[in-house]
Amino acid sequence: MNRTQTTTTQVPYAVLNLRGEGSEDELTRSRNVGPLKYNGSLEQYEHFDVTPVIGREFAKDLQLVDILNADNSDDLIRDLAVLISRRGVCFFRDQDISGEQLIQLGHKIGQLSGRPSASGLHVHPLTEDTPELGSGVLAEISSDKQKKGGGLRQAYDDKSTYACTGWHSDITFENNPSDYAALKMHTLPETGGDTMWGSAYEVYDRISPPIQKLLEGLTATHDANFFHDEARRLGIPIKAVGRGHPMNQGEDLRAVHPVVRTNPVTGWKGLFVNYAFTKRFNDVTRDENDFLMKYCHDLLALNHDLQVRFRWTKNAVAIWDNRSTYHTATYDYDAKRAGDRVCSVGEKPYFDPKSVSRKQALKAEGKAW
Ligand code: SIN
Repeated sequence: MNRTQTTTTQVPYAVLNLRGEGSEDELTRSRNVGPLKYNGSLEQYEHFDVTPVIGREFAKDLQLVDILNADNSDDLIRDLAVLISRRGVCFFRDQDISGEQLIQLGHKIGQLSGRPSASGLHVHPLTEDTPELGSGVLAEISSDKQKKGGGLRQAYDDKSTYACTGWHSDITFENNPSDYAALKMHTLPETGGDTMWGSAYEVYDRISPPIQKLLEGLTATHDANFFHDEARRLGIPIKAVGRGHPMNQGEDLRAVHPVVRTNPVTGWKGLFVNYAFTKRFNDVTRDENDFLMKYCHDLLALNHDLQVRFRWTKNAVAIWDNRSTYHTATYDYDAKRAGDRVCSVGEKPYFDPKSVSRKQALKAEGKAW
């Protein structure tokens, strides 16, 4: 299958197959046969690109809820997905979208851009299974929860280490990790609590061809078994099933993924290594591992020209592609900060040797982004 050719692939609307019927390959692969084309339907809305390599911000004339309810909503949402995958993250100010509608949008973005039919929305392994808390697909991100312990608590608590330890891509410890995530922030401190994103495409583009080749031949282990300590502290079990895909189950929160990953929506390569979850390059010596790990983390943390920082305003929404970006909150506030998040589950990560880098693709397309 040629995943690099540019086509307008019409992805059939997914039939949910969360019971896990079908071969492992069918259950885990992207349904795209090539990168998807951006048809430009969102150019009519007021917007600007926040930096040359990552981020686009829309003014409030674009209401996500209108796109969800439009007659041509499938076309608009597919274009939204392609735009997000190309720009890494998009920001939307002053949004009226409700939690229920955010869930619908989270489903549709993944479905319309080719996620496997067995993929759904993720529920975090530290989610308590109680009827009052609902299905768990709409997760509350909050400073109160963070203080109690949950998620990447160390980055919040431990000011004796670099703030960059908070950089991550969502749930990469899962066999089928996330394609897209959306966060709507409703409660904010007066200042602080910004979120930053970094481009995995651009990190890859900063590496020389011989080292790119080396990294393309490697896999790495992503490990979140540190959540067991949190679960014990909170007195809840690790959620072993119902994490958005039949392959995301069990209490061992570990997965092996390629170090360079092809994004099936753009066909572009990115470095799929993140500070929080990527613990070990496989089949190399300990010293080689430490050296490569530091190099990969430094590429992100020390190159501020491949990052974008978003200052939240009430009811702003950010939607990002977890395959090709990293993000971190900024834990510099005391007041309450809270929002609602959905995290869609995508394909099993793969590396297509025929895929191209973002810079190569843009040059071939004669485009700036
Ligand atoms: C996240 O890490 O997914 C949430 C980001 C944030 O709280 O800013």
